[in-house]
Amino acid sequence: VLLKKTNALLAKMTLEEKIGQLNQYSGKDVTGPVNAQNKTQKEDIRNGLVGSMLNVKGVKDTREIQELALQSRLKIPLLFSLDVIHGYKTVFPIPLAETASWDTELMEQSAHIAAKEAAASGIHWTFAPMVDIAKDPRWGRVMEGAGEDTYLGVLAAKARVKGFQGAKLGGTDAVMACAKHFAAYGAAIAGRDYNAVDMSLHQLWQDYLPPFKAAVDAGAATFMNSFNTLNGIPATGNKYLQRDILKGQWKFSGFVVSDWGSIGEMVNHGFANNDTIAALKAITAGSDMDMESKAYLAGLASLVKNGKVNIALVDDAVRRILYKKFELGLFDDPFRFCNEAREQQVMNDASHVAIALKAAERSIVLLKNNQVLPLSSGTKTIAVIGPLAQSRRDMAGSWTVNPVDTNLIVTLYQGLKNNAAGATVLTANGCVVNGGDKNGFEEALSVAAKADVVVMAIGETWDMSGEAKSRSDIRMPGLQQQLLAAVKATGKPLVAVVMAGRPLVMDTVVAQADAVVYAWWLGNEAGNAIANVLLGKYNPSGKLPMTFPRNVGQIPVTYKQQNTGRPVTNENNVVYRSAYIDVTNRPAFAFGYGLSYTTFSYSGLQVSKPAFSGNDSVVVSFTLTNTGKYAGEEVAQLYIRDKVSDIVRPVKELTGFKKLMLQPGAQQTIRFTINKEKLAYYNSDLKKITEAGDFEVMIGGSSDNTPLKTTIRFQ
Ligand code: IFM
Repeated sequence: VLLKKTNALLAKMTLEEKIGQLNQYSGKDVTGPVNAQNKTQKEDIRNGLVGSMLNVKGVKDTREIQELALQSRLKIPLLFSLDVIHGYKTVFPIPLAETASWDTELMEQSAHIAAKEAAASGIHWTFAPMVDIAKDPRWGRVMEGAGEDTYLGVLAAKARVKGFQGAKLGGTDAVMACAKHFAAYGAAIAGRDYNAVDMSLHQLWQDYLPPFKAAVDAGAATFMNSFNTLNGIPATGNKYLQRDILKGQWKFSGFVVSDWGSIGEMVNHGFANNDTIAALKAITAGSDMDMESKAYLAGLASLVKNGKVNIALVDDAVRRILYKKFELGLFDDPFRFCNEAREQQVMNDASHVAIALKAAERSIVLLKNNQVLPLSSGTKTIAVIGPLAQSRRDMAGSWTVNPVDTNLIVTLYQGLKNNAAGATVLTANGCVVNGGDKNGFEEALSVAAKADVVVMAIGETWDMSGEAKSRSDIRMPGLQQQLLAAVKATGKPLVAVVMAGRPLVMDTVVAQADAVVYAWWLGNEAGNAIANVLLGKYNPSGKLPMTFPRNVGQIPVTYKQQNTGRPVTNENNVVYRSAYIDVTNRPAFAFGYGLSYTTFSYSGLQVSKPAFSGNDSVVVSFTLTNTGKYAGEEVAQLYIRDKVSDIVRPVKELTGFKKLMLQPGAQQTIRFTINKEKLAYYNSDLKKITEAGDFEVMIGGSSDNTPLKTTIRFQ
């Protein structure tokens, strides 16, 4: 029925009106470079030359602009889009942090709340989730994704698409999702944003495409292509990616939006002489909507008229977009998402805050603990020292919906005051995050001197990670390390709470602090969540979704490496081995790592049968026991290594995990089923196959700590 309606509308449209549907303008806010003020915006909307707006939000503003669109000849409503990445009004942890929870239900829940709030505020479409696999922490956008691992990335992609889109597209409590950035944007050379990407097709299929495929399977309504070239072809003008894979093999029925200006940027790439040729290449390759290049508006009509672009290509793009507008119910009521009363009610829903707290607690990763945490109940005075102790805006992190309501943000200082009953909480900044001087050190040291324990609140400001925020030096910025060293010299027990949008290099912080809590950017409830962890009200359960390097020179470093012909077998003798002579190959903290206040033991590994074939499977079981004093959650992880294969496989690959809560002394049997699919990989013909042979099975609480090992055979 909707397709019929779409086609009937398409039949009435002039070429200019069709091209208008492919054009997207930015409203008030700016999330990309703008060269000139768009003076004709309102007029273009009234003339039916705009299909969608980004960066306009709120019932009042979206209504006002929608009214302009309804003055156009065919009264086709606009789609309102926005980067709703980790919350709308309620700010949740950044996606990388939340992935550390390994809790897909929670990811779905927070995405749904974000969607609910956005939809109540006139938004139809979010530019999320970002499902780019990212192995280089210099790249500022790692904060926005699920980290380095494909298996975890696939699950996160599915959960987030489902969360944003709700049970069925078209509900006023949900928005269209957009899987981005298609494809391989996360592999920008040297972690420099927008940089070229050069990778084998094998790696593309094996590591980078699966989360996108998962997003299609989960029903993602839209895709965004990306700024980078892939093996010399800009993703935006890449037919192989968009037409052959996405719309061809994967049968994606939604539409593809370009990234900001990425059609026009193909001229800078040296892939098109001018915007018109860029438009030709983009539409031919399958880019349906032009975000802010204005290249389709300027060039497509003449390209169709002079026969360079077949109108069928334009029709296909317009059909895809109109269909979504029908699916959202915008033709029945263009103001469905514009209800002031709902906006008020949804924005003030207190249940959202409770989920934000839960998400923040579960995102925290305990990296080191010399028995100083949880703080003893007898602690009388706690000093919170550092530039992030009382910071509000930084807790929200990058890619928030602006302006952030900082009144809703709980600082670490406030969080400790709220939750450490009976204790006195003192605070001092000591220095700023970046740059600055040591003038505040003296005050910080005198505050430290009065305390039983010092909590250092250090890391990155909200604008140090995110788009266009690549850093070549990812050590602790400014004088923060020196402040920490000065506080350390007081001899007080020292807990470092690090808040950042990416893995940082923290060698000296880790060496000097008695405990290190990685708190990322946790959103509105940051302070309460961190305080609950420090005080033992929540036992930390987060596990790293990205490897933490020891130094920048190790990057890219991931657990999922090949063995090489000369692997290191003895760390004390690396001569003629694949190693560095100045640093070990081991990272500072491995993927999957994270401590708890309790301890877990893995034992009793059993395999249902040593070998299997065809569609049969093997069940691997073991016992997980809480051997410590606290109730706590563990993420038991399953890794597999294909011992011999046609294309060399990594030394280990995450293939399954289970997160579960155990009381002290309690134990539980965990089972993982391994079938052909779990052992499959893309061969040199890019076909997914499972080869006969031996597979090593490794189970444990981190990629570098898998005490249970066995071998199974597929035949
Ligand atoms: O959605 C974003 C994209 O991820 C990066 N460039 C700008 C877009 C719109 O804000």
